[in-house]
Amino acid sequence: MGNKYLLIIGGNSDIAKECAIEFAKHNFNLILTTRNKNKLEEFSKDLKNLYDIDIIIEELDILDFSYHSEFWNKVKNYNIEVVLISVGYLGNQELAEQNTEESLKIINTNYTALVNLINIISNDLKEKRNKTIIGISSVAGDRGRKSNYIYGSAKAGFSCYLDGLRHKLYNYNIHVITVKPGLVYTKMTSHLKLPKFLTTTPNKVAKDIYKAYLKKINTLYTPFFWKIIINIIKLIPENIFKKINL
Ligand SMILES: NC(=O)c1ccc[n+]([C@@H]2O[C@H](COP(=O)([O-])OP(=O)(O)OC[C@H]3O[C@@H](n4cnc5c(N)ncnc54)[C@H](OP(=O)(O)O)[C@@H]3O)[C@@H](O)[C@H]2O)c1
Repeated sequence: MGNKYLLIIGGNSDIAKECAIEFAKHNFNLILTTRNKNKLEEFSKDLKNLYDIDIIIEELDILDFSYHSEFWNKVKNYNIEVVLISVGYLGNQELAEQNTEESLKIINTNYTALVNLINIISNDLKEKRNKTIIGISSVAGDRGRKSNYIYGSAKAGFSCYLDGLRHKLYNYNIHVITVKPGLVYTKMTSHLKLPKFLTTTPNKVAKDIYKAYLKKINTLYTPFFWKIIINIIKLIPENIFKKINL
């Protein structure tokens, strides 16, 4: 068993689970957070047996801002090499346009709560150096669209936060990766009809994330072709963009 740990905030996400497997294969122990420990018991038992690693499961509701410091104090003495943030909430755009609770849930889950927790974590990691923080944002944050602009705007904020954090932590030798997946088959998208040729698996995303960690990539589009798609989408003039159904 190695002595380094990967901390995953949102360890029960489908993408996070595949990342857990990928890092476990490379001798990382794991600290996984979820709102309900039971959801991860089976998964962690299997991983422990397969890879002979230590796995700790911690309960964390990211919307409980007042618990963030206490949570970090519980885990910070493990030898955490990498922190991966995989929490996300797509929510219901139409409901959020009418309902403050849904709107704030989307914004807080995807942005403000993550900012608060990562501030706490990074203030400590700064002193330790040679660490990596990986945040999963989304291509949805690259241009606002009518179908998901509340989620998209929170992701835009989160991408910008991660970019700024990378700039800030460069001199402390802490690397920050902004991950922008395109469409992925997970619990989050299971109710949507996704175009097959544009949609990938959590396993593919996890493999890309592990490679990005090794190569110290700054911004990862996964799969890679989403970078081309987004660059084309960004080139469309606003006067035309606002008239098309995207
Ligand atoms: N799927 C896609 O097409 C896609 C595309 C672009 C970006 N992303 C991003 O990828 C990341 C992973 O998502 P996924 O697709 O793997 O979806 P997922 O399987 O639905 O996972 C979402 C995770 O968010 C956690 N979460 C939600 N609200 C929370 C809260 N209040 N406190 C703590 N945890 C909370 C859930 O944890 P619990 O265990 O507590 O339920 C769950 O593990 C997200 O940031 C998502 O926005 C996904």
